[in-house]
Amino acid sequence: RPQSEAESLYRDFFIAKNESIPEVTVKVSCSLDGKQATDKGESKWITNKAVKNDVFHLRHKHDAVLTGKGTIHADNPQYTTRIEEGKHPIKVILSKTGEIDFNLDIFQLRNEPIWIYTQNKNLKTNIEHVEIIELTNCSIENILKDLYQRGIGSVLVEAGPTVTSEFLQSKFTNELILYYAPKIIGGSGSYQFFQSESIFNLSEVPQFEIVNSQMLEQNIKLELRKK
Ligand SMILES: NC(=O)c1ccc[n+]([C@@H]2O[C@H](COP(=O)([O-])OP(=O)(O)OC[C@H]3O[C@@H](n4cnc5c(N)ncnc54)[C@H](OP(=O)(O)O)[C@@H]3O)[C@@H](O)[C@H]2O)c1
Repeated sequence: RPQSEAESLYRDFFIAKNESIPEVTVKVSCSLDGKQATDKGESKWITNKAVKNDVFHLRHKHDAVLTGKGTIHADNPQYTTRIEEGKHPIKVILSKTGEIDFNLDIFQLRNEPIWIYTQNKNLKTNIEHVEIIELTNCSIENILKDLYQRGIGSVLVEAGPTVTSEFLQSKFTNELILYYAPKIIGGSGSYQFFQSESIFNLSEVPQFEIVNSQMLEQNIKLELRKK
């Protein structure tokens, strides 16, 4: 039976509720060849200002924004939100090793709580708004289940290729937002947003349908849902 529009709209919501995990949206800004950075790790200003603005709005729609240690160390981002009355998401950082530099900018802003997921039993900090959550196994499933228990209903993943690929391979990611800049970066495949150890048959690769597309000046936004 064909799905009604309302059913497909609520599908992800019901899946999330049934599994007791948050709804997950993965966001990637990249070149036409799918690179989030050059092979040397340079990533500032792949996409344009209109994208930056759109991302601010996207953050406000989620309970949490999640990234990896690689990103905070490479870019020193603050994950700021700009709309005063908007929802201010919790910042979530993943680091199995717990080798984190607490002098980074993200730890200096004291407005929203930061939760760090780690497997390092010895990781400690006395920064007031930072909570360290130690899991024996930081699988995507365990992290999402824990976030849900803490009241997080929706997560925006804004990370480098390592964390992005883990989420795209997990069965818990249904929404993908791609911002494409009309440029090609090249190199040898480092920082390409989706990387996997296994090579899938074409008939088994993750497939998406395009739910929406929008020009943001010369960049393009694609909203996709896993089939
Ligand atoms: N254009 C974009 O949209 C965009 C966005 C973000 C980043 N970037 C670029 O991406 C590059 C960084 O790439 P990256 O792949 O290193 O960054 P990343 O995916 O954000 O971070 C990778 C790190 O996250 C931790 N991690 C991964 N999976 C984990 C899990 N399941 N549980 C706990 N910790 C986990 C690991 O830290 P430990 O080693 O400490 O265990 C790992 O080294 C930078 O050049 C940055 O500029 C681009």
